[in-house]
Amino acid sequence: ESATRYEAEAATYSAGSTVDTDHSGFSGTGFVNTPNKVGSAVQWTVNRAQAGPATLAFGHANGTTANRALDIAVSGTVTAKNVAVPSTGAWTRWRTLVITANLKAGPNTIRATATTANGAPNLDYLDV
Ligand code: GCU
Repeated sequence: ESATRYEAEAATYSAGSTVDTDHSGFSGTGFVNTPNKVGSAVQWTVNRAQAGPATLAFGHANGTTANRALDIAVSGTVTAKNVAVPSTGAWTRWRTLVITANLKAGPNTIRATATTANGAPNLDYLDV
């Protein structure tokens, strides 16, 4: 299947998050800036025609010099744990974090959750 883009601003996200537009280069109408704390999350729902492995590419920016770290959960199960998200060099420099996961046919939730007090990077989209 060719990739479908799921914008972060159309997903669900933690209370206290904002959809921001102040750092250029994002896709869609904005990006999601979640609170800088453990547990901050963005969750997408991805529909698949068929079960099988899929490439998940998370568009993000981390303008700090420190790693941010994410757990990636698929339908409630963490499949990529504590993945380091390095600095992208600037909040306007967007990169993708790519992982592979098995998805089922029908709806799958994909949740990216911050595992440190630094919080999540700014999240722009998920391509699947
Ligand atoms: C800055 C930046 C935000 C970002 C935040 C952070 O405030 O402008 O877009 O979300 O840092 O540290 O996460």
